[in-house]
Amino acid sequence: MTITINIEPLSDALGAAIRGIDLRQEVDERTQDELQELFARHCVLCFPDQKISAEDQRRFAAMFGRVDGGYRSKSGGDLKESATRGVMLVSNIRKDGKPIGSLPDGEMMFHSDGAHREFPYRATTLFGIRIPSTGGNTLFANLQAAYDALSPKMRKRVETLETQTVYDYAAQDRGTIGEDPTLPRARHPLVKTHPVTDRKSLYISRLMTEKIVGFDHDESEALLAELFDHAEKSEFVYSHKWTPGDLVIWDNRSTNHARTDFSDDEQRLLRRYTISDPAAPLGN
Ligand code: SIN
Repeated sequence: MTITINIEPLSDALGAAIRGIDLRQEVDERTQDELQELFARHCVLCFPDQKISAEDQRRFAAMFGRVDGGYRSKSGGDLKESATRGVMLVSNIRKDGKPIGSLPDGEMMFHSDGAHREFPYRATTLFGIRIPSTGGNTLFANLQAAYDALSPKMRKRVETLETQTVYDYAAQDRGTIGEDPTLPRARHPLVKTHPVTDRKSLYISRLMTEKIVGFDHDESEALLAELFDHAEKSEFVYSHKWTPGDLVIWDNRSTNHARTDFSDDEQRLLRRYTISDPAAPLGN
C-alpha cells in the first residue's frame, strides 16, 4: 500500500513539513522517491509528531544515502548496540559534570556539517527529544538562493575561488578560528554545484571557512565577511523552533545551519545521524 503525504512549506526561504507518514514503519519505494525529490527541492524537511527509536531514525536516514556508522563516544549509554553505531546525541545534559552528548551549550555560528572533510556529509538528521521552552532554535540558510542573489560581478569574482575549511567548534568568533594548526582541514570550491538539482551554492560558513586560498589574511577576511553577511540575510533563513517528536533532515550541500542561544537551566536533547555519499571513502 502506498501512502499519501501532506506537504506544507516551512518558510519562503526553504523547507517543507511532511505529515501523514509514520516513520516507525518501512516506507514504500514510491514514497521514498517522492521524499528524495522533496529533499532536493526544499533542502530541509521536517516530519512532526514522530515517535521513532534510534533504529527507525537510522532506517529513515538510509533512504538518503550511506548512514555514517562509526562509533561515537557521546552516543548515550542507554541505546542498543546496533542503534549506537553512528548516533550522536546533541545535548547539554550532564552526568557527573560531563556532557552526555556533543555541541552542548548555547549559540552556534553558521556552519555545514563535515565541511572540514574532503567529502563532507551529504545530509544530517536530527530528532528532537527534550526541548527548552525558549531558544535553541536551529537556523537554516539557503545557500542556493544566496548564490542566485549575488550580483553578476560578484558571481564572476567568486566562481573559481577555493577555500580552506577547518573544524574548530570551540572557537567563539572569527578572531580565534583555526589557531591550532593540527585541527582537521580540507579545501573546497567556494561555489559548488548540487549533484541532483544542478543549482549552485555559496559553500562558505562563518564557523568553518578559515580562508580563501591564495588571498592574504585581510583580503580573505574582507571578502568572506561580505559573503557571510549576504548568506545570513533574513530572506535566506528559516528559524526552526523545535517541538519534541520533530525529525528534521537537512542537505549540507545547499544549506548552512546555526543555533540560537538557550538557557543552561533547561535540558536540550536531540539525536543525530549523518549521511554520506555512498561513493565517499569511509571515515575520510
Ligand atoms: C548541529 O549543528 O548539528 C546541531 C544543531 C542544533 O543543536 O540545533
